[in-house]
Amino acid sequence: MTQENRITAATPAWDKAGWRAYPRVQMPDYTDPEALAAAEAQLRRYPPLVFAGEARRLRDQLAEVAAGRAFLLQGGDCAESFGEFSADNLRDTFKVLLQMAVVLTWGAQLPVVKVGRMAGQFAKPRSAPTEVVGGVELPSYRGDIINGFDFTPEARIPDPQRMLAAYTQAAASLNLLRAFSTGGFADMHRVQSWIADFVGGPEAAKYRDIADRIRDAMAFMQAAGVNSDTAHQLSKVDFYTSHEALLLEYEEALARVDSTTGLPVAGSGHMIWIGDRTRQPDGAHVEFCRGVQNPIGLKCGPSTTAEDLKVLMAKLNPANEAGRLTLIARFGAGQVGDHLPRLIAAVRQEGANVVWSCDPMHGNTIKSATGYKTRPFDAVLREVREFFAIHKAEGTIPGGVHFEMTGKDVTECTGGVRAVTDEDLSDRYHTACDPRLNASQSLELAFLVAEELRARREASVPPRGVRVG
Ligand code: PEP
Ligand code: CO
Repeated sequence: MTQENRITAATPAWDKAGWRAYPRVQMPDYTDPEALAAAEAQLRRYPPLVFAGEARRLRDQLAEVAAGRAFLLQGGDCAESFGEFSADNLRDTFKVLLQMAVVLTWGAQLPVVKVGRMAGQFAKPRSAPTEVVGGVELPSYRGDIINGFDFTPEARIPDPQRMLAAYTQAAASLNLLRAFSTGGFADMHRVQSWIADFVGGPEAAKYRDIADRIRDAMAFMQAAGVNSDTAHQLSKVDFYTSHEALLLEYEEALARVDSTTGLPVAGSGHMIWIGDRTRQPDGAHVEFCRGVQNPIGLKCGPSTTAEDLKVLMAKLNPANEAGRLTLIARFGAGQVGDHLPRLIAAVRQEGANVVWSCDPMHGNTIKSATGYKTRPFDAVLREVREFFAIHKAEGTIPGGVHFEMTGKDVTECTGGVRAVTDEDLSDRYHTACDPRLNASQSLELAFLVAEELRARREASVPPRGVRVG
C-alpha cells in the first residue's frame, strides 16, 4: 500500500479539532470550561497509548480478514469501570479471549485477529439523557470517563478529571496486556490446557471432541519438531485494543501525527469504532474518525439506510483500502435477514472493501421477568447463525464476531450450558452498562461459532475424488 492510496489529498482537509464545528450527539455538556481545558491540556502532554505502526499492522491483518484469509475476534466489557479495574479482571478476560481465539482458529483454519474492547472502552451512548428512579430524575450515567454510576446529583455531573483517570487506567491495562501477550502467559500450550479444563466439566462435555482435536493438532506439531522460531511464535500473540470513539475531547487530545508517515493517528487505542447512535454522516463522530489512519469500525443497526452507508463508506474509506473499515452488524436475532442483504447490496454496488463482523449483543437486549437487562444466549447464537447463513447465500465473507464478555463468572446473560436463569441474574450482576457473556458462555459460543465455521469450510471444499478445473 503506497502512501498515495491513504487518506490524504483526495479528501477534504482535516484537523483533529475540526469535529467541533459539526453537530454532536451523546456527548456531555461540561459545566466548567476551565476545568475541561485544563484536563485536555494535560492529556495532550501525555504520551499516546498506542503507536501508529501497531494500528497499521492491525489494518493489514484486517485486510486479510476482508479477503477471507483471517477471522476477527473482538470482545470485552460493554463499559470498563474504575471500580472493576484489577489485574485479575484483565487477566481473566484476556484468558477467555485467547481460549476463544484458539477454538475459532481450529474452526476457521485461519489466523484469528484478536482485538479487546479494553484499555479505553469507557464512554457510553445512552437511550435517554435522564433516568428516573423512585420518582427522582437525574442525568443518565455515561460511563466512568464522563460521570459516576451512583444515583446522586453530584455523581452525575460530568467531570473532565475523569478523562485523566481513564487514561491512567487504560495505560496500566495496556501495559499488563502487552506483558501477557509476550511474556509467556499466552503460550498456546497453556491456553489449550485451560480449554481442557472447561470441557472436563460434565456440562461442557459435548465440546470435548473439538478440544481433543485441538490438543492432538498441537501434539502433532510438537512431535513433528517445531523449531525454536515457531515455538517462540506460539508463546506470544498479537493483541490489539479498541473502543467506541464517543468522547471526542479525549480522542482529540490523544490524537497525534505519526512520525513515520506524517499522518494523523488516534493514540487512544489501535481500533476505534463509531456507535449506532453517533454515525450521522454529517456529525462530529464521523468527522473525527475519517481523519485518523487507525482501522475504523462502524456499527450498523436496523435504522442504517443503504444511502447513509454509501456516504459513510466514501467518507471513512475514500481510498477503499482493505482493512480500514469494519462494518459491525447488530440487528437482533430474527432481523438479520431484513437488513443485512440490503446493506451487502450497497457495499457491492459501491465495490467497497469492508470487513463484515457480527455483534449479536446489542440487538438482543431484553428485560427479564425479574427486572434485569439481559440477553438470552440462544438469541445471541441465533443472530450469529443468521449472519453466517446470509453471507453464505450472498457469497460474501463473514469476517468476524464482536462480543460483550468478561472472564468472570457473572450472571448477566441467561442460558448456556451452565444455565443462568432469570432468577439467577441477581446473584452476580456486576456490569456498569450492558449484560456480558460470562467466561463459560463466551467459550461455549466460540465452540458453536467454530462448528459453524468448520461446516462452512467443509461445504466449500470439493468432495474427494472430484477434479476441479
Ligand atoms: C456498544 O458497543 O457498547 C454499543 C453501545 O453499541 P451500539 O452502538 O451498536 O448500540
Ligand atoms: Co454495550
